[in-house]
Amino acid sequence: MRAAVLTEQPGELAIEELSIDRPGPGEVLIQTVGAGLCHSDLHFMEGLFRTALPVVMGHESAGIVQAVGDGVDYVEPGDHVVACLSIFCGSCPQCLSGHPSRCANPQATSRAKGSPPRLTRADGSPVDQFARLGGFAEEMLIHENGLVKVTEDMPLDRACLIGCGVTTGFGAAVRTANVQVGTTVCVIGAGGIGLSAIQGARIAGANRIVAVDLSTAKLETAQRMGATHVVDASATDDVVGAVRDLTGGGVDYAFEAIGRSTTVRQAFDMLVPGGVATVIGMVPSKDEVTLRGIDFLSEKKLQGSAMGSNQFRTDIPRMIDMYLDGRLLLDEMVSARIELDAVNQGYEMMRNGEVARTVITFE
Ligand SMILES: NC(=O)c1ccc[n+]([C@@H]2O[C@H](COP(=O)([O-])OP(=O)(O)OC[C@H]3O[C@@H](n4cnc5c(N)ncnc54)[C@H](O)[C@@H]3O)[C@@H](O)[C@H]2O)c1
Ligand SMILES: [Zn+2]
Ligand SMILES: [Zn+2]
Repeated sequence: MRAAVLTEQPGELAIEELSIDRPGPGEVLIQTVGAGLCHSDLHFMEGLFRTALPVVMGHESAGIVQAVGDGVDYVEPGDHVVACLSIFCGSCPQCLSGHPSRCANPQATSRAKGSPPRLTRADGSPVDQFARLGGFAEEMLIHENGLVKVTEDMPLDRACLIGCGVTTGFGAAVRTANVQVGTTVCVIGAGGIGLSAIQGARIAGANRIVAVDLSTAKLETAQRMGATHVVDASATDDVVGAVRDLTGGGVDYAFEAIGRSTTVRQAFDMLVPGGVATVIGMVPSKDEVTLRGIDFLSEKKLQGSAMGSNQFRTDIPRMIDMYLDGRLLLDEMVSARIELDAVNQGYEMMRNGEVARTVITFE
């Protein structure tokens, strides 16, 4: 099967023909139908974070079950599924205390050391799977606890977006920050993640939602998603002042959806006393974030959010219902559909800020 492989950091993806093993115990083989391009892969391709190499990139994919291994009774061949990197073991303290997205025992849902690899090149050498999914591939072999069964009414080329971007942004608003009805919100960065946070804030009932981005096209999309106000960060050097002016003094909830220490600082600085800033963006490992210590006296809070603090087996079907009843907008998030061979061009469009989400379709 064909897959997009990263062999060096920094580096581009190369399409390779790989062999995929049969499903072992607890594993599921999936024929991929749609795969979204998330910025996290690009951070790794740019070398801002380290990964094992060679590796099939991609972690936002949906498809159809082809085969299941011993002991799998959650799905059967023909089922439609969305993959999610929050693979839970179900028995570690994080899983058992209601935080399966923080699962602390990945060994329980991976092949044991010394077992045959899931993916190999023609010479038999192993190829890794990014996020233990490897979603930019015609087929995925993953643990059953990394997927959720979804209704066949849901188009898989949009369902895939919920596997990472939508779960992450929507969940950051609704689960991590728990946005309350009637409040004021700002989302900095209106890519796939930020647009999903805006939608989460709208569905949670926020009164004012300010979107901040450098691109006017992104800000227009943000307004379709629920932003009531926008700030063009390319046209001002005082984003915090602009947001304060629009909101009568600041916001209850700020979200950073880019991954830069300067915009994390903006998110914290634009809060009203008692407000909470949630960092979703992946800030490069070597970067530090500095704050003014005195601001803690006004009870401002800064927190991180990983994969929207999800419980994806129940969250994703709920989000699909919201899409099917017209409240969660996904069609509008897809700016481009491409083939697997065009994955590098897809990331070039993201780097240029041209697209909300690009989806690889496999047919
Ligand atoms: N925490 C998690 O679990 C998690 C999950 C998925 C993605 N992420 C991270 O979220 C971030 C966003 O991902 P994405 O896929 O939405 O990326 P994206 O590239 O689609 O969107 C980023 C947006 O930020 C805008 N932007 C860039 N610099 C800006 C600035 N200085 N001021 C205002 N706007 C600016 C860009 O124009 C773009 O619209 C990335 O860092 C990604 O790695 C985190
Ligand atoms: Zn992602
Ligand atoms: Zn666990």
